Amino acid sequence: MNYTRSILITGGAGFIGSHVVRLFVNKYPGYHIINLDKLTYAGNLANLKDIEGKPNYTFVKADICDFERVCRLLEEHHVDGIIHLAAESHVDRSIKDPFTFARTNVLGTLSLLQAAKSYWESLPEAYEGKRFYHISTDEVYGALELTHPEGVDSNLSAHKVYGDEFFREETPYNPHSPYSASKASSDHFVRAFHDTYGLPVLVTNCSNNYGPYQFPEKLIPLFINNIRQRKPLPVYGKGENVRDWLFVEDHARAIDLIFHKGKIADTYNIGGFNEWKNIDIIKLVIRTVDRLSGNPEGYSMDLITYVTDRKGHDMRYAIDSSKLQRELGWSPSLQFEEGIEKTVRWYLDNQEWMDNVTSGDYQKYYEEMYKGR
Ligand code: NAD
Ligand code: TYD
Repeated sequence: MNYTRSILITGGAGFIGSHVVRLFVNKYPGYHIINLDKLTYAGNLANLKDIEGKPNYTFVKADICDFERVCRLLEEHHVDGIIHLAAESHVDRSIKDPFTFARTNVLGTLSLLQAAKSYWESLPEAYEGKRFYHISTDEVYGALELTHPEGVDSNLSAHKVYGDEFFREETPYNPHSPYSASKASSDHFVRAFHDTYGLPVLVTNCSNNYGPYQFPEKLIPLFINNIRQRKPLPVYGKGENVRDWLFVEDHARAIDLIFHKGKIADTYNIGGFNEWKNIDIIKLVIRTVDRLSGNPEGYSMDLITYVTDRKGHDMRYAIDSSKLQRELGWSPSLQFEEGIEKTVRWYLDNQEWMDNVTSGDYQKYYEEMYKGR
């Protein structure tokens, strides 16, 4: 088959990456999609079971830090587009082990950039038609103030807003956690490769994602699983921190649009104008799990357990995504309550997935699948 494009997606076995890979493989049968993933604890090929046999899909187990390997892959598959999601992504882990975050997020991104530069510069058409799209986070901007602790109505949002400021594309970087510092550093390297060598880059900074296939160390899947098992729900501090939530499939749709239509060297913020206090989300998740499980209202509220706050816990994130909405016509497809209902339903219907992940069995999946190949 002669494919019209050959796109390398890194971190495609993770949470967001698996949604992006699925979208591209199904929507673009004329593209060859190569999923490069190291399969760390966060990578799970069961996330992609439904597409693993598709002819336009190839999985490669590799580390983005392995520069020679990445160079060979780009050449072998004639890669003309890269969508880079591979990263260490959990703030609590970054507080315990910052080195792993610097290695993968900073050096791994540099390795990919250098490999793309070398390969594309070796071609007669060089950077023509090429794209290096780096997926980043709103956490690089730091933390916003909670000027309205009770929240106020706003015409920007279907929900309340908790402050007057928003992260905009021009907001200066001010990361606080080792995770956000490593992502900020990788963003700077990506932009430096454009400014120095002309590499055709795109960067997007997205707010917190939620939805199916998220590793249960992050707030929403962790709490759904704990409620199901009647385990305590550890709320950091007073539960007053605010996050801005986006359904993962809406993020994947934005990535598709920006990869194809985004302006080279530009930055787009992605978010759904959907700020929620942690404690309000937690109560919404409890109500939804109880209702869908047939428990009486309020049944699991007693699981809420206030614990010591996260070190350096950012108070509020809120993204202004109006540039993306205005310039490329993207908008989120789901209201938060609908998205949470869909998400909770998915985790309750896919308890085997959750049990495999929490027991570690999913890591045997790759060995089984590739045995003898
Ligand atoms: P995730 O932790 O679920 O998945 C990360 C994937 O990267 C895993 O499959 C893992 O195996 C792979 N990986 C890790 N180190 C690797 C390495 N050295 N080489 C190759 N593969 C490696 O993460 P996620 O939540 O899906 O996030 C994906 C990207 O989106 C990250 O870059 C993250 O910073 C960004 N992001 C995430 C969110 C969010 O709310 N989850 C929001 C905004 C941006
Ligand atoms: P998380 O899902 O780790 O995402 P991030 O830190 O990237 O925003 O956490 C979301 C919010 O929930 C954050 O304010 C920390 C809080 N939180 C808890 O209160 N308890 C928990 O057990 C976890 C994992 C998070």
